[in-house]
Order: sequence, then C-alpha cells, then structure tokens
Amino acid sequence: MRIGVAKEIKPQEYRVALTPAGARELVQKGHEVLVETNAGLGSAFADEAYERAGAAIVSVEDVWGNADLLLKVKEPIAPEYGHLREGLTLFTYLHIAADEPLTRALIDSGITAIAYETVETDRGALPLLAPMSEIAGRLAPQAGADHLEKPKGGRGILLGGVAGVAPARVLVLGGGMVGYNAAVIALGMGAQVTILERSVERMRYLEQILSGRVQLLMSSSLQVEESIKGADLTIGAVLIPGALAPKLIGRDLLGTMKENSVLVDVAIDQGGCAETSKPTTHDDPVYTVDGVIHYCVANMPGAVPITSTRALTNVTLAYVEQLAELGTMGAVRENPELARGVNTIAGKLTYEAVAEAHGMDYTPLDDALAAGVA
Ligand SMILES: NC(=O)c1ccc[n+]([C@@H]2O[C@H](COP(=O)([O-])OP(=O)(O)OC[C@H]3O[C@@H](n4cnc5c(N)ncnc54)[C@H](O)[C@@H]3O)[C@@H](O)[C@H]2O)c1
Repeated sequence: MRIGVAKEIKPQEYRVALTPAGARELVQKGHEVLVETNAGLGSAFADEAYERAGAAIVSVEDVWGNADLLLKVKEPIAPEYGHLREGLTLFTYLHIAADEPLTRALIDSGITAIAYETVETDRGALPLLAPMSEIAGRLAPQAGADHLEKPKGGRGILLGGVAGVAPARVLVLGGGMVGYNAAVIALGMGAQVTILERSVERMRYLEQILSGRVQLLMSSSLQVEESIKGADLTIGAVLIPGALAPKLIGRDLLGTMKENSVLVDVAIDQGGCAETSKPTTHDDPVYTVDGVIHYCVANMPGAVPITSTRALTNVTLAYVEQLAELGTMGAVRENPELARGVNTIAGKLTYEAVAEAHGMDYTPLDDALAAGVA
C-alpha cells in the first residue's frame, strides 16, 4: 500500500502523523511511504531522516494525489478540502461533530475518513486519545508552577517548597487519565496533592498505585468548596463522556480561593469545569478573574510536539499497519475498533453522533459495506 504523510498546515500545529521509526516499520513490511517535504520539521524530524528510513519525500500534490492511505494529525482545513477524493482513506483526528463544513466536504468527496478519536475498544476506551490526556496531565503542573511565580502574576510559591518550608497544595479535580498524570508530576515536583474523584472504583485503583502519597476524596460540591480554599494550584481534569464538563467551580467560589492562585482547566475542550473558563491559546494562555489566574489552553499537547508526535505514533502505528496489510475494507471488517473509527465512506455518513449533531442522514457502517460502497 502507498501511505502518505501530509504536512500539517493548521496554525500552531507542529506534530506529524508518522515518525521516521514508524516509516521504517512500514517500509520493512513492503509498503511505500510518501512524506510531504518538511512534514516532520516541527517535531525535529528532517526529510533526510525519513529518506534514511526508506520513505520518499514528495510534494503536497503527490502526497495527497498518490497515496492510498493518508495520515494526518489534525482535521483537514478549508485549503485542504480540494485534496479529498474517492479511493483515498484518511486517518486523523477529525472532530467533525463540531464542524459541519468539513463533514459535508468529506461526504461530497466520497473519501473514507477514519477518526482517531472515535476508534474505540470493546470496553469503551479511546486508545488514540489517551496519550494526549497523558501529556496534557503531565503538562498541567508544569504550566501551573510557571504561572504561580510572582513575575508571572502568581502567588509566588514554589510547588516543592524547601526543607523547613511547606510545599504548595495542588488540588486535582477528576482522577482519570489527565488527573492521574497531573498528580504524578505534581508529586514529583514535591507538592502536596489532593485528588477529588467521584468513581469509587477509580479511587480504589488510584489508592493502590499511589499508595498513600496523595489524599483521595469523594467529589461533592461541599468537598470542592472546602478543598479549593486551601489550593495554590487547582487542576480541572473531569470528564463525563459525551457531555460537557460539569461546572464544579461556580463564580461564587472564586472569591474563596487564594489570591493569585492558579486554575489549569484541562477539561476546557469539553467546556471547562469552572463557570469562568474560556478557551485560550499558547500565545496568550492565561487571564485573571476575581484574583484567580485561569490557564485554559485547549490543545496543551501542541506545546510539546517532539513528545506528542512520538506518543501519537506509538498508538496509531498498529492500526496503520493493519490498514496497510489488509486494505481499508479488510481492516475495518476484521477490527471492530477501527470500524468504530469510520466516520464517512463513499458519500455516506456512518457515525451516528455526527449525523445527529448536524441533522444529516446516518447509514450504519454494515449497511454501507453491504451495499458494496467500497
Ligand atoms: N486541554 C487539552 O489540551 C486536553 C488534552 C487532553 C485531554 N483533555 C481533556 O481533559 C479531560 C479529562 O480527560 P481524561 O482523559 O482524563 O478523562 P477520563 O475519563 O480518563 O477521566 C475523567 C475522570 O473524571 C471523573 N469525574 C467525572 N465527574 C467528576 C466529578 N464531578 N468530580 C470528580 N471527578 C469526576 C471521572 O470519574 C473520571 O475518572 C477531558 O475533558 C479531555 O477532553 C484536554
């Protein structure tokens, strides 16, 4: 199979969908890998590194025009719509429930679009989203510590304290993938960490692996109210799948928080867990409301493309290999996880939640396949 790797053109996107190591794996299995000129530069991979791995460096027209399977990181943006075509399989983060023009462009083009974020295991886990949560979680205490410094407008407290001086208190709301990783890094920096979680089963697991190093408390509005008063850094990491984040921090609570404390609201991509949270960018990451510094960057992993690119390829490569080995239809029939990732195929919309979001017709994937669309 011919596998293309396009250069990302969305502003501030430095990741690339395949590392040279991944390219070599595919080449060794007998596939042809086409990488767009400078596709890896933002992640510190020169064209020569791909060439050494056996890939060919090609133009934007050739990567889209000659590939059977095209790998990307972000959804195609308007200037890329013209490249979408029947016979091509696109594998990337799509998030089309919130993007009607792209949904229409994908359907009209007849392309097969498989979304990283809807690839789902039988147990409901989202393996291609997990590494970005790990990274965002690990970045959260780092970003918080930075903005707690006095010259940045923060309280002027060091997370780890020093001998004889108490460390800062970090409150993590939600102990899932983001919350666990945030807690581990905050602990490593020497902070005193409390996690509020609402799943008892998850708390039992956290208790086992963090074995007494953090305080684990059942999340309730009263507990949030009490814990937030003492926090120097609060990290929002809650998620209710398929729904907006619960607003655990009402505006009235801000006044009870420490002056110039920091809230890193990682859950901002689902609306955020504070009433006062609104998305920010890496260029201008913080704003202050009622004396609380809000950090609400919606694409935190974008700040560390060298790590994010590798973490992404680590989880996508096995699926890419399967698509390359069996062909798109073979892989989708063989692997239900990949089948759940299919959003559009031959002009049909095959992901129900997207169809509902846009009031469009939905065709179950099995029906689309049975109709012999591909
Ligand atoms: N900003 C970014 O760059 C970025 C990057 C990755 C993930 N995220 C977001 O971070 C959020 C968390 O993601 P995740 O992968 O950790 O999800 P997850 O499902 O692994 O964890 C969420 C946790 O929140 C808990 N929870 C739900 N309601 C709660 C409540 N009221 N109080 C306390 N805990 C509660 C759940 O029990 C669960 O353990 C999501 O919104 C995700 O989209 C943001």
